Amino acid sequence: MVELGQALFHDKILSGNKDVACSTCHNAGDALTDGKSVAFGTGAVGVGKNRVLATGAMMARNAPALFDTGSTAYGGSTQSLFWDNRVSFQPLDTPDPELTVTTASTEYRAVVAQLEGSLAAEALFPVLDPTEMRGAAGTNEIADAPDNVSAWKALMARLVGTSNGTVGGIPGYRTLFSAAYPGVAFDDLNFGHATRAIAEFVGQSFTATDTPYDDFVNGNQAALTASQQNGLALFMGKANCVACHSGSSFSDFQPHAAGVPQLGPGRLEAHEDRGVALVTSSTADNYKFRTPSLRNVALTGPYMHDGCYTTLEGAVRHMIDPRAAIAHYNAKQLEPEFAATLDTDPARIAARTAAIDPIFATPPALTDTEVSDVVSFLGALTDPSSVTRAQAAKPTSVPSGLPVD
Ligand code: HEC
Ligand code: HEC
Repeated sequence: MVELGQALFHDKILSGNKDVACSTCHNAGDALTDGKSVAFGTGAVGVGKNRVLATGAMMARNAPALFDTGSTAYGGSTQSLFWDNRVSFQPLDTPDPELTVTTASTEYRAVVAQLEGSLAAEALFPVLDPTEMRGAAGTNEIADAPDNVSAWKALMARLVGTSNGTVGGIPGYRTLFSAAYPGVAFDDLNFGHATRAIAEFVGQSFTATDTPYDDFVNGNQAALTASQQNGLALFMGKANCVACHSGSSFSDFQPHAAGVPQLGPGRLEAHEDRGVALVTSSTADNYKFRTPSLRNVALTGPYMHDGCYTTLEGAVRHMIDPRAAIAHYNAKQLEPEFAATLDTDPARIAARTAAIDPIFATPPALTDTEVSDVVSFLGALTDPSSVTRAQAAKPTSVPSGLPVD
C-alpha cells in the first residue's frame, strides 16, 4: 500500500498534462513545500523553489508542508484540511443533512467507501483543479471529463487500464494495485483506492515527532536550551500562542482571522481571499484560516496562507500583534513576482484589520529577547530526521516512466 502511494505521490501521470506530481509542490528538497509564497500550478516548469511560472498560473495559496498530516490529531481523522478547512472526512451514512455523499451516486459512494480519514479525502481534489494538476479544458482527457467521478475514472484508466486491465494502463501500476488490494478486480478499483494509498504513504513517511521539544516533554531537561525553555514558557503563558496553537500538532485546527496581508491572484475574487467565509458563505468567517501546525515550522517558510512572511521571526512578530503588523507590513521581503501582486487596497486592508480575532485584542508586550526566545523555541519543533526520511522516500523512477522531479 505504501509503495503504491509512494509511486502515485511522485508520478506526473496523475496530472492531466503529465507535467506535475504531488511532489512537485510538496517537494522533499524544500521541506515538503515549494519555498514559494504561493504555489505554481500545471504549466509551470521546475520543482520547488526553482519552479518558474512559464505557461502556468499562480495558485491562490501557499503549499503547506505535509509533515505530521497523517497523525490522528491531523489528517488521519475527521479533522478538516486545507487553509480554509474545506475538506473533511465523514464515514458514509453519517446522518448529517449537509452531507451530499449520502445522496450521491453509487460510484461516488464507492470512492468514499475506500477513504479512512481526511488525508485520503484531500488527495481526491488536487487532480480535479484545472490550475493545480488537471489542466485546461481541451488539453487532455482528464480536463475534458464532464464531472468529478468521470475524471477519477479517466485517471484509473491511465493507471490500470480498462476492461479489467486488458486495454491500456500501465503494467507497473497493475502490479502495485494488485499487491495493495489483493483479489479486487481492476474494474472494481476506483480513485479512492489510489488516494487511500497516497494517504498511507504520506502518513507513514512524513512524520515529525522526533524533536527536541518531544524529548524535553519526555523528561530530558537538556533537550532545550535556556532560550528555548523561556520561549516555551512564553508560548504557553504570556504570549498566549497556545490559545490556538495547542495539542500535539500545535494547532486547534480551528479557523481564526489573523489580519494577514494578501498577495497572489486571490481566491474566487481578485486580490482577495476571505478564507473560511468562501466555504461557509458566512461573513462572520471572513478572513479566517485554519491555525497551521507548527511541527517543522522553522523549515517550511514562506509563512501564512499566502506566504507573505519569508522569515519565521516575521511570522512570529505578526502573531504577537497582527493589527500593528498588517499596518506596517514590509513587502521588500518578497520575491519581486510576489511583491507585484500585494494587495494595497485600503478598504480591503481595513476589512482584514477589523476582522482580527478578539484573542489578539491586547498584544503581549514582549522584549526583543523574548521574541527571539519564542523563535528559538519554534526551532525545537524541528525533527532533523524528517527531511532526510522524506528525501529517502523519493523513488528514482515511477511506473509511468515519466521523469521524477
Ligand atoms: C501545483 C502545486 C500542488 C500540487 C501539484 C499538489 N499540491 Fe497539495 N497543496 C497545494 C496548495 C497550494 C495547498 C493549499 C490549498 C488550500 O489550502 O487552499 C495544498 C494542500 C494540500 C494538503 C492539505 C494540507 C493541510 O495541512 O491542510 C494536502 C494533504 C496536500 N496538499 C496533498 C497533496 C497531494 C496528495 C497531491 C497530489 C495528488 C498534491 N497535494 C498536489 C499545492 C499543490
Ligand atoms: C487566535 C489564534 C492564534 C493565536 C493566538 C496565534 N496564532 Fe499563529 N496562526 C494562527 C492562524 C489562523 C495562522 C494562519 C493565518 C493566515 O495564514 O492567514 C497562524 C500562523 C502562524 C505561523 C505561520 C505558520 C505557517 O506555517 O505558515 C506561525 C509561525 C505562528 N502562527 C506562530 C504563532 C505564535 C508564536 C503565536 C504567539 C505569539 C501565535 N502564532 C498566536 C492562529 C493563531
